[in-house]
Amino acid sequence: MMPIGPLMKEHRLIEKVIAVMREEAEKIQVYNKVDPIVIETIVDFIRMYADRTHHGKEEDILFRDLNNKELSSEHKNTMEELVQEHVWARETTGSLVEAKEDYESGNKGALDKMVALLNKLTEFYPKHIKKEDKDFFIPVMDYFSEEAQDKMLDEFWDFDKQLIHEKYEKVYENLKRKV
Ligand SMILES: [Fe+2]
Ligand SMILES: [Fe+2]
Repeated sequence: MMPIGPLMKEHRLIEKVIAVMREEAEKIQVYNKVDPIVIETIVDFIRMYADRTHHGKEEDILFRDLNNKELSSEHKNTMEELVQEHVWARETTGSLVEAKEDYESGNKGALDKMVALLNKLTEFYPKHIKKEDKDFFIPVMDYFSEEAQDKMLDEFWDFDKQLIHEKYEKVYENLKRKV
């Protein structure tokens, strides 16, 4: 399997959650209220899976190795755009957390902000994923030999293995704060 195999598979799960986020944004508007737990679960998915697990492998392994290659200007530009887009997604998710906290502290006006941020994220991810799937992942594999691709895939699996521990370290820290 090429190392982009797991990345593309992860895109499919991200798309499914994006569909749920779209539904949630509509529901918030219809009922004029939100279940903060749903927003927390969405944020946890984006931060831990879409960003840490998925963007993590893209940036810390694939893009790191591509940085050592003589990339075409097109691929170089696309990679820079993708990194910037990851930064944007992180910031927008942070704003969603702030809006949720604002709502919980009694500001009902934060509902509209949450809907707007959910809509921004659900518009963003499919475009970002399409750019990677259609214009980037497959062509950039040509910069790597089959052996280098196998090595990258192994590094991906090792990267994933650490994350379950990282995730539950965070669960512990949160729990300690709350109890
Ligand atoms: Fe990405
Ligand atoms: Fe991606």
